[in-house]
Amino acid sequence: MAIRSDFWMTGFAKLHFPITIGGMQKVGFGIIGGGLMGREFASAVARWGHLLKMPAKPSVEMVSGLTLEELSWFAESMPTPPKLTTNWRDILANPDVDVVYASLPHNMHEEVFTAVLKAGKHLMGEKPFGIDQKAFNTIAEESRRRPKQLVRVASQMHFFPAAQKIGQMIESGEIGQVIEVRTGFLHSSDLDPLKPINWKRQAAINGAYGAMGDLGMHACSMPIRAGWKPLNVRAILRKVVKERPDRNGKMQPCDTPDNATLFCEMQDPATGEHFPWTLRTHRIAPGEQNSWYIEVLGTKTSARFSTVNCKRLEILRYNGGSDQAWCAIEMGSHTTYPIITAAAFEVGFCDVIQQMWAAFITELVTGKVPHAFARCVTLEDVGMSHRLFTAALKSQEHGTVEAV
Ligand SMILES: NC(=O)c1ccc[n+]([C@@H]2O[C@H](COP(=O)([O-])OP(=O)(O)OC[C@H]3O[C@@H](n4cnc5c(N)ncnc54)[C@H](O)[C@@H]3O)[C@@H](O)[C@H]2O)c1
Repeated sequence: MAIRSDFWMTGFAKLHFPITIGGMQKVGFGIIGGGLMGREFASAVARWGHLLKMPAKPSVEMVSGLTLEELSWFAESMPTPPKLTTNWRDILANPDVDVVYASLPHNMHEEVFTAVLKAGKHLMGEKPFGIDQKAFNTIAEESRRRPKQLVRVASQMHFFPAAQKIGQMIESGEIGQVIEVRTGFLHSSDLDPLKPINWKRQAAINGAYGAMGDLGMHACSMPIRAGWKPLNVRAILRKVVKERPDRNGKMQPCDTPDNATLFCEMQDPATGEHFPWTLRTHRIAPGEQNSWYIEVLGTKTSARFSTVNCKRLEILRYNGGSDQAWCAIEMGSHTTYPIITAAAFEVGFCDVIQQMWAAFITELVTGKVPHAFARCVTLEDVGMSHRLFTAALKSQEHGTVEAV
């Protein structure tokens, strides 16, 4: 990757929104799906003042969910309570809503995301952005017809400061020739076989991708943004716990893979070189709790980061001598989008969620982001992940290496 500039053009034209009393532009948001992630977004908005030098301020105007009871948190916790509805189409009809954040079960992505675009709204859609390749293609087609509407995919893990630093090392060529890449996202709460079943364990709602649909985009975001191309994949997908109790204690089948390990042959278009990429998305990884990691081994510099130690970036610079030593850099809060937090303090999940939203708002309003890895996941990025996961399903079914 040779492109490097101080302010990275994204190809999206800048837009103007009404000016608020404070002098900042105000961007009206509707949240379709006020569950776990809907609340995370609203919380990031409620503490928007945490960010410095933002070109605009989001405002949550309306939220939808299956029941009003489920949405009571928004009324009780938001400084300016949004309107609540059980009909997500109300959000599309609301003129105060410029952008929709759609955080819904995967079987609803196609219908809702395309409707959002047809209603003329900008969209931040949750991953996997369509339950399968076909659903993704339909949404992407709708988006291509509407280039003036910004569409991005919610995937925040690459906004950890250490990951951003690795991104810039890749972008600048500091890595040298890539030897090998390893990424993954590991959970372990499903190790408990009596954990009740939820929609994420059911193919009809979560999709056949299983753990890949759930965790995979996060593990793909950096290699794909680096421009590296997966050529083929051999996947080993495991259903470890085959049934779980429902709310009434009746056992129900878990028909999606818990753990996916993908061995990919990658190509670096900048050098033409091929290298291996191992991607692991495991819901049953004993001892791991939301552990996202990236490890890039290069001929000049190697770098690795895991959220297990979210402050620490490890780097090995090879200078030709016989000594090879990993050094650790404590990254603190050196975020890409500046915040009020002292640089020495550590970052966490809520902070990188807010960084992702800072990237979205910056791109929406200015048409630019500071560098390639400071941008949210794009349709092209997520489209590549769908091709990879679809090939992985085939690979598991036939025990073959499949072209991506
Ligand atoms: N970025 C991340 O780190 C992250 C983490 C978890 C989940 N996710 C993604 O976020 C999305 C939502 O996951 P979640 O964990 O927030 O789920 P959730 O179950 O907590 O919330 C889902 C929301 O969708 C609503 N909903 C469900 N069925 C509906 C229907 N038929 N009609 C209208 N509304 C309906 C629910 O009322 C709820 O508000 C998924 O795409 C998931 O993959 C992302």
